[in-house]
Amino acid sequence: MPGHNNIDIKPAEGKLGVLLVGLGAVSTTFIAGVEAVKKGFAKPIGSLTQMGTIRLGKRTDNRVPLIKDFLPLADLKDLVFGAWDIFPESAYDAALNAGVLEKELLVQLKEPLRKIKPMKAVFDQSYVKRLSGTNVKTGKNKFELAHQLIDEIADWRKKNKCSRVVMIWAASTEVFLKQHPVHKTLETFEKAMRENHKAIAPSMIYAYAALKSGIPFANGAPNLTVDIPALMTLADKNKLSICGKDFKTGQTLMKTIIAPGLKSRMLGLHGWYSTNILGNRDGEVLDDPDSFKTKEESKLSVLEYILQPEVYPDLYKDFSHVVRINYYPPRGDNKEGWDNIDIFGWLGYPMQIKIDFLCRDSILAAPIVLDLALFLDLAQRAGMKGVQEWLSFYFKSPQTAPGLYPEHDIFIQLMKLKNTLRHLRGEDLITHLGLEYYD
Ligand SMILES: NC(=O)c1ccc[n+]([C@@H]2O[C@H](COP(=O)([O-])OP(=O)(O)OC[C@H]3O[C@@H](n4cnc5c(N)ncnc54)[C@H](O)[C@@H]3O)[C@@H](O)[C@H]2O)c1
Repeated sequence: MPGHNNIDIKPAEGKLGVLLVGLGAVSTTFIAGVEAVKKGFAKPIGSLTQMGTIRLGKRTDNRVPLIKDFLPLADLKDLVFGAWDIFPESAYDAALNAGVLEKELLVQLKEPLRKIKPMKAVFDQSYVKRLSGTNVKTGKNKFELAHQLIDEIADWRKKNKCSRVVMIWAASTEVFLKQHPVHKTLETFEKAMRENHKAIAPSMIYAYAALKSGIPFANGAPNLTVDIPALMTLADKNKLSICGKDFKTGQTLMKTIIAPGLKSRMLGLHGWYSTNILGNRDGEVLDDPDSFKTKEESKLSVLEYILQPEVYPDLYKDFSHVVRINYYPPRGDNKEGWDNIDIFGWLGYPMQIKIDFLCRDSILAAPIVLDLALFLDLAQRAGMKGVQEWLSFYFKSPQTAPGLYPEHDIFIQLMKLKNTLRHLRGEDLITHLGLEYYD
């Protein structure tokens, strides 16, 4: 039903395929979680699409529907999952290996999870040094591998009778890559794929295949992937939504909650030291300095953008920001993140904040995957295309239009997201001015 802005959102009819690159801790926690919610075993805590509400009109109007009642989102019962991984284990075995969810829960979900067997991956160890696996495609060159993926996606879609499909990268973090001239246009990109150019990482091959297949793409890791002109142009041309990078969980989530608060009260910052221990496969991959560099870049930029040292030199000039991740196997997915924050207040008097966050990485990431799948599908049905900046809320390093700085403040991100939803439905945007209540 069109709103009075005449944005026609097609109904969510039929099945929505969710294709996941990587069937590790995050993907299996997401899939198992959806299956558990469907069976009524648990609630989708942490998911804005499932639990969130949206205020419409004036505060006195009392219109606060659930987001999922306000917009035609796909229903959880209509989701179908598929995945690629370099290991051949089913989602059931992969979830057991990941060790995030308890075995008692997984046993009850065995039937749907066992059916999800990963397709052969496009993988090259030079991009993820700490991993090697056997469930890997072979091909003459990267262009041919992309076409194997395209054919496979078409078959999968048909077999699973999906009316729509989205793809989400939840595979390991690749080594740090900078934009290269071959990323500039679709022509140079395709030529580079044919020539097996080093600047084309496996994640880009998946993204290319998705966009060629008419499928929107989200990037949950900090890799460059779809954040290059060639693929942004392809998304625009094929009228497809893209977003990324790097799911915002754990320490960075806390940073983007706390830093806007400090800034809002004009409290200064001398330094922010963050360190983590984690022992899952992601931690092992990030133990390689080249993969860590990709993650570090993603984590470091957050404070600079929120605090704007160039605008507030007295408060934020030259603060030190250090981020460490240490691979420590005994902890598995149950990460511990410590933050030491050196702040200063009135007349420059110093104070300290210490945070010890005993978090569960994949428990925080799974609802993000669900929301992204549902919102990307919604964006597609609403005719949106290109970078979906309103989904910045979910990312550590939000992708934006070229030349535009990213918005990291989680409260601004949420306002932007909800205003986008209001806009899609032709509702008034909420500015929080509120003078009318005092007329
Ligand atoms: N868990 C979080 O809170 C969180 C937050 C932000 C970002 N991330 C990112 O999400 C990704 C997934 O995290 P995870 O904890 O599930 O890691 P994981 O190691 O458990 O799973 C990743 C999986 O991807 C597979 N893989 C690697 N390269 C592949 C390729 N080219 N094709 C197909 N599969 C491939 C691996 O074999 C592995 O099974 C990582 O890049 C991580 O940095 C996770």
